Amino acid sequence: MNQNIVAIDGPAGSGKSTVAREVGAQIGYSYVDTGSYYRAFTLFFHKIYKKENPTIPFSEWIKNKNLENEISKISIQTEFLSGGTNKTILNSEDVSEEIRLPEVTEEIKYLAPLRIVRDFVNQCLHDLGDKYKLIMDGRDIGTEVFPDAKFKFFVTASIDTRAERRFQELVEKGVNVDLDQLKEDIAKRDKSDMERKIAPLRMADDAILIDTTQLSKNVVINMILSKILQS
Ligand code: DC
Repeated sequence: MNQNIVAIDGPAGSGKSTVAREVGAQIGYSYVDTGSYYRAFTLFFHKIYKKENPTIPFSEWIKNKNLENEISKISIQTEFLSGGTNKTILNSEDVSEEIRLPEVTEEIKYLAPLRIVRDFVNQCLHDLGDKYKLIMDGRDIGTEVFPDAKFKFFVTASIDTRAERRFQELVEKGVNVDLDQLKEDIAKRDKSDMERKIAPLRMADDAILIDTTQLSKNVVINMILSKILQS
């Protein structure tokens, strides 16, 4: 059993990153947003795609890339800041904002299902796990990346609630979005995360399920904290 890892998996918009960050700060574990690795990996290719400006869509273009050759040119790192906030560094460049671009979010589904990409990200995560106590959020941390993690949680919520929370978040940032469109995007992401053959989104048999639909953030944080501190 790996005492140094807390795995928090769940679908997009379930609020897992907020609770992971705060629980981590309270128990002295560094927070890692594992989605940021898939985002940075995708951004690397997104930038090349933009530069080449091809006439074919990204989904076709990426099929013609030799990922094995390109992967050695990619370095992704998490820089831990105080209070559980992080920076994502892609080849020495801070890409923390850029990885959230909607085009990048959309293109992840062409890369995240590939074994070579998942092996690359998992190696990065294991390298971190060798050095630090970590609380990680993602889709496959408790099932594939650290199946031996002592603490595993699966945090979810209804699709309406997840879309509504994301909507509020964006409104607060001054971003103009359509709630129905957000809901549709989240449903599409759920589908591609759950239906991929390798490391699909699913709850580990030994994870604790937390449905946050009716729960406040603080209640969820306290539930997770009490489970960890109890054992
Ligand atoms: O957590 P996020 O929404 O930022 O993640 C972005 C995408 O990365 C998500 O749609 C699927 C992929 N991902 C994954 O396949 N495995 C993980 N452990 C984390 C994210």
